[in-house]
This record gives sequence, C-alpha cells and structure tokens, in this order.
Amino acid sequence: AKDPVRVLVTGAAGQIGYALVPMIARGIMLGADQPVILHMLDIPPAAEALNGVKMELVDAAFPLLKGVVATTDAVEACTGVNIAVMVGGFPRKEGMERKDVMSKNVSIYKSQAAALEQHAAPNCKVLVVANPANTNALILKEFAPSIPAKNITCLTRLDHNRALGQISERLNVPVSDVKNVIIWGNHSSTQYPDVNHATVKTPSGDKPVRELVKDDAWLNEEFITTVQQRGAAIIKARKLSSALSAASSACDHIRDWVLDTPEGTWVSMGVYSDGSYNVPAGLMYSFPVACKKGEWTIVQGLPIDEFSRKKMDATAEELSEEKSLAYSCLS
Ligand code: NAI
Repeated sequence: AKDPVRVLVTGAAGQIGYALVPMIARGIMLGADQPVILHMLDIPPAAEALNGVKMELVDAAFPLLKGVVATTDAVEACTGVNIAVMVGGFPRKEGMERKDVMSKNVSIYKSQAAALEQHAAPNCKVLVVANPANTNALILKEFAPSIPAKNITCLTRLDHNRALGQISERLNVPVSDVKNVIIWGNHSSTQYPDVNHATVKTPSGDKPVRELVKDDAWLNEEFITTVQQRGAAIIKARKLSSALSAASSACDHIRDWVLDTPEGTWVSMGVYSDGSYNVPAGLMYSFPVACKKGEWTIVQGLPIDEFSRKKMDATAEELSEEKSLAYSCLS
C-alpha cells in the first residue's frame, strides 16, 4: 500500500473548504488508491466550525482518510505537508478599499509562506485559491525563497473549466470532448479566455472550436464576457460565491500536476512567468501548461494574433499593478 500524502487545506471551515475536503478524502484529488492525511487550518473565530468539519470527516468513514489535523496554528498545520491548498484569506467587505483587502492578504500570505517554508515536506506543491489568487501566490513565493518557484501556483482551472463548459453547451457536445482552451493572465475579470487553439472531438477527428461554432462574434464577445463574469453570476444566483466548482477545479489542478495531463492536452495554471509569450517575467500569470512527472511546462509556440495579444497584455498590466500595490503594502 502507498504511504499517505499529507494535504493542507487552509480556510477549511469556509465554503470551498467544506466542498473540498470530502473530495480529497474520496481520492478525487490524488487518486482512488492514494491514502491521505488532511491538515485543516482556520482562524480562531472559526475553530468550532472547523472542529465540526473534522467530526463530519470522521463520521463519513472515508477508507482513504488516515488522519485529520484540525488546528488554528499555522506551524502545526504546515508541518510535513506534501500538498498545500491555500483557500483561507480575507474577503473584501462592503466599503473596503482595494488596498486594505490587499494589505490583509499580503500579511496572511507572508506569514503562511514562512510557515510552509520552514515546516512543509521537501518539494511541497502549493496551490493558492484565495483571492487575489495570483498576487497572493506571488507574495507566498517571495516570502518562501527556498521553495522552488515552480512549486507555487494559483488556481485558474475554474475559469478554464468554465470556458470548456460554455463551449460544450453552445455546441451541445459532452464537455469531455472539448479541450485546449486557455485562460491567460489574472484570475479576475481581465482574464483572457482564448479558444483559438481549442478543439472538439468528432467522429472525423478533432476539429477547431472556431470551425464548429461558426460565430466569431459570439466567440469574441459574449463567450469571453460570460467566462470573465461567471463568478459574479454565481454570486447573484446563489448569494454565495462558487464553491463546489472551485473545489472540483482545485482537485483537477493538483491531480493533473501530480498525475500528468493526458497526451495532447493542456490545462491552464497560474505560474511564475519566465517571459514566455512576452509576458513580463516575475508575474504570477495563467498560461497553458502540460504536466509530466510532477512538473508543469508552459506550452510553447502557439501563434498569437493581434486580438489575443491586446487582451494578454491588458491582463498582464493589471497584474503588474496588483504587484505594485502588494509591495506598497509591505513597506
Ligand atoms: P469563505 O469566507 O467561506 O472561507 C474562507 C475561510 O478562510 C474562512 O473560514 C476564514 O475563517 C478562513 N481564513 C481567513 N483568514 C485565514 C487565515 N489567515 N488562515 C486560515 N484561514 C483563514 O470563502 P470561500 O467561499 O471558501 O472562498 C475562499 C477564497 O477563495 C476567497 O478568497 C475567494 O475569493 C476565493 N475563490 C477563488 C476562486 C478561484 O478560482 N481562484 C474561486 C472561488 C473563490
């Protein structure tokens, strides 16, 4: 039997946490033959609720679940973890300035970076979900210099999956037959969902999405804004933000990273830019990536037209501004 993998979920008493921990305990993140030990962190006001989640995990009697650590102590939470899913953060409340929210999250991610750097298992893989996801991940990277930059990522897989979902609905095909959309840039409304390289499986082979949809106006406008604004549409409908889809996409992100993307398929991940596609190096930016043996690489050589270029630059610009804002919170 395999040794258990220790998986940290921060903000585990929250909405996404409540959807995510049972998925992990069921083997959806790491495979149905991979035992896990869950580490759950939240803050003292949520300690009782966190303990309730722990009780439910016990009650569910998950065969793969070999242990649960539920704590409000970041060091205890981070100790020995192989995977860290950072969902905890400070939400934007009515009347709050962007800078104030940024400042709260910068200080959270700075201190959790230190706890991970000092106490996580070697080669720990980190996924930041909490918003502003790209910039929180960047801060985590800056304050955990001994964790390789390639081990620190942020979640844009939900946006990627939303794009697949929209194409699937439009063409009335199973979502599993659609692949290779791309989310470029920030997990925000400036993200650029790109279908120029996406394909659909048909009886006569893979066909480009553009060829099948035959409606460039829809693809260049409504499709893009629907994906960009989907988070807001869910809040409007549910009065709560996306949780099951965020949790499921976080599992997809880690599973593909650890267990490989299928041959010929790429996914979107927020990663530390090396300057690929003329995206400024040093931003946490969402790219198309393929994963093999636990490592992602940016898919290279895709042709970029002028329409795409502008949108890729606009979201990079926003990320540069967020980065400056984050740094101004540090000083
Ligand atoms: P939530 O408010 O229900 O849960 C957040 C939890 O984090 C709370 O239990 C809170 O007590 C905890 N927390 C706050 N500060 C903490 C700290 N310093 N350490 C540990 N835990 C802490 O929020 P929800 O709906 O679960 O969303 C979580 C985050 O994920 C939010 O920032 C949200 O904006 C973001 N999000 C990101 C998505 C993405 O695609 N990247 C999609 C959906 C949400």
